[in-house]
Amino acid sequence: MKVAVFSSKPYDEHTLNKENYCNDIQLSFFESRLSKETVSLTKGFNAISCFVNDKINKEVLHQLHENHITVIALRCTGFNNVDLEVANQLGIRVYHVPDYSPESVAEHAVALIMTLNRKTHRAYHRVKESNFSLEGLMGFNLSGKTVGCIGTGRIGIAFSKIMTGFGCELLCYDVEPNHEVIDLGGQYVELDTLYKKADIISLHCPLTNDTNHLINHSSLSKMRDGVMIINTSRGGLVNAQEAIDALYSGKIGYLGLDVYEQEGELFFEDMSGKIIQDSVFQLMLTFPNVVVTGHQGYFTDTALSHIAQTTLENLSDHKNNKPSNRQLTHLT
Ligand code: NAI
Repeated sequence: MKVAVFSSKPYDEHTLNKENYCNDIQLSFFESRLSKETVSLTKGFNAISCFVNDKINKEVLHQLHENHITVIALRCTGFNNVDLEVANQLGIRVYHVPDYSPESVAEHAVALIMTLNRKTHRAYHRVKESNFSLEGLMGFNLSGKTVGCIGTGRIGIAFSKIMTGFGCELLCYDVEPNHEVIDLGGQYVELDTLYKKADIISLHCPLTNDTNHLINHSSLSKMRDGVMIINTSRGGLVNAQEAIDALYSGKIGYLGLDVYEQEGELFFEDMSGKIIQDSVFQLMLTFPNVVVTGHQGYFTDTALSHIAQTTLENLSDHKNNKPSNRQLTHLT
């Protein structure tokens, strides 16, 4: 099986090659993203592997079909960037990596909370300049605070475990409740109750039509003044412009983002010498109470190994016609 690996960085190449014991999977690595401009690179391959910002829409899928690609092995959990219905119609199988390491993302969400709360991002620079003043660095105790977790799947549960360990009260919302929340001493509540009561709200649901811009003027107006919002899920869950309005008014007191709706134009690349053509993003970076990371929640050695292992297993399952619950096309 000849596989074209898109959006590949040296660390992807390293881990995939390390885990690839199987001689019949030949991997070729392309730094470029998959899009209508780069889809011609798939000629001569049977399979492709993609990541979060590859655009696998109708046009690209038709081109992949013409190029005899029968399988797409995503190296991520979320699959909002693939038109599964069209893939299914064309007989292209799509696999994902559902649970490579929920702790990696959950722990990153907690890192954002801790940074925003104890202001280590500001303290780091101050101390470098021999400025040991504590003015403006006051935090709060997490113990006793109410944390709202939206989406209690694998990552949401891993996050909830950490937060209850800090002594936080746990309020959750999910369309499919999970008994582990109750075992942790948390409770499910209506979304409006969560908005009203939570000091910290962390998003762990997928991006769907129902969750698109979940954080907007209307939901923000129901929240506590000074609420902390953490998004390590998908950028489209937050309406960035409306979040900025809420930062100006003080409704949002802290904002931690590992994902951004327009991140496809920015993330995973060194843009330090370029003028970023996104004024909303640029404006967001100017707030002292906003911390943005470039979609690195998943980026731990444990997670990368699991991603590589599962991606190769998915390709091998497809080749051997083995049924798999990581195959997504049956969802349509
Ligand atoms: P999961 O599938 O285990 O859990 C998602 C949960 O969200 C499920 O319990 C589901 O019922 C719930 N949900 C679905 N629609 C909902 C709605 N309208 N309102 C509330 N809850 C809803 O997924 P997992 O592994 O926990 O991942 C969650 C998300 O994290 C992924 O969809 C992905 O977007 C994001 N992610 C981000 C990474 C990063 O590096 N920052 C890495 C991996 C995943």
